Amino acid sequence: MTPGGRILVAGGDGLVGAGLARHLSAAGVEVVATTRRRDGPLFLDVAAAADAPPALPRADAAVLCAGVARLADCERDPDGSRRVNVDGIVGIAAALVQQGAYVLHLSSDKVFDGQAAQRRREAPTCPLTRYGAQKVAAERGVLGLDGEVGVLRLSKVLAPSLPLLNDWAAALRAGTPIAPFTDMYLAPVPLDLVCRLIACLLRARAVGLYQCSGASDRSYVALAETFVRGLSADPALIAPCRSGLDPAALSPNTTLDMSVEAARFGIGQPAFDDVVSDIAAVLR
Ligand SMILES: NC(=O)c1ccc[n+]([C@@H]2O[C@H](COP(=O)([O-])OP(=O)(O)OC[C@H]3O[C@@H](n4cnc5c(N)ncnc54)[C@H](OP(=O)(O)O)[C@@H]3O)[C@@H](O)[C@H]2O)c1
Repeated sequence: MTPGGRILVAGGDGLVGAGLARHLSAAGVEVVATTRRRDGPLFLDVAAAADAPPALPRADAAVLCAGVARLADCERDPDGSRRVNVDGIVGIAAALVQQGAYVLHLSSDKVFDGQAAQRRREAPTCPLTRYGAQKVAAERGVLGLDGEVGVLRLSKVLAPSLPLLNDWAAALRAGTPIAPFTDMYLAPVPLDLVCRLIACLLRARAVGLYQCSGASDRSYVALAETFVRGLSADPALIAPCRSGLDPAALSPNTTLDMSVEAARFGIGQPAFDDVVSDIAAVLR
């Protein structure tokens, strides 16, 4: 499904932003992507948008992929990350809505506490981390704007370009052990499925809350086992360890109900093994 018009991708250098810009451009869509590189074609500092509306090119729709996406970075710099993830994002969304653009903001399963599987979109939010709390505040701010706005919550997005998987592949090729966490869980979605769903949301100018996650949660050890199998590498190189994170902040459940997305766009939850095996096949 190809959206029409010109699409602004805020955060075009990130994992999702870069993948989305490639996906849409390959489908013939006109894309303008922002960057934090001063020498880039369209500079945008989201933090500055917390104070003043940014000058943005006209767009029919926009996807807000920019943000401080690491939980640890938000804990380390609560005020700075909030300026980006909440105040800046809502400021940019407000400026775009005023232009008449449809705005889609990317949120996270971390708006929930990870204590229940297959969270429904209307369930009360209950974040455990600063990152999660910032995502809740941004969701409220964006969805509270008077215009066509949507939010897409994502679980862990996997792609062959992800540094963790590239590091693991390189280590396994060199015969060096890898150390996946026993106490961290993921319900991964592949980047291309995320891009396909975003394209559907853009085309439909879908207002409200949407969700995208894998079908089931498994540990990073399970991720490593499936990945090693896919690479035909030596399973003896898997050396499981604990993350060292506060157990109270760990989320054993990251799955999100996707019944609406399946019914409306024909996009459902991918199986854990399929997601990981497909990436291993690319990196083999
Ligand atoms: N990837 C996932 O598994 C996942 C899961 C759930 C939700 N999400 C959400 O999806 C969105 C995209 O995630 P991602 O994985 O693509 O993150 P990412 O790879 O870390 O990319 C984030 C992008 O935001 C840019 N950025 C950070 N601070 C900025 C600022 N002050 N002004 C302008 N740009 C700024 C970064 O620029 P630089 O490249 O210059 O650093 C980067 O290009 C984020 O909102 C994230 O919270 C992602």
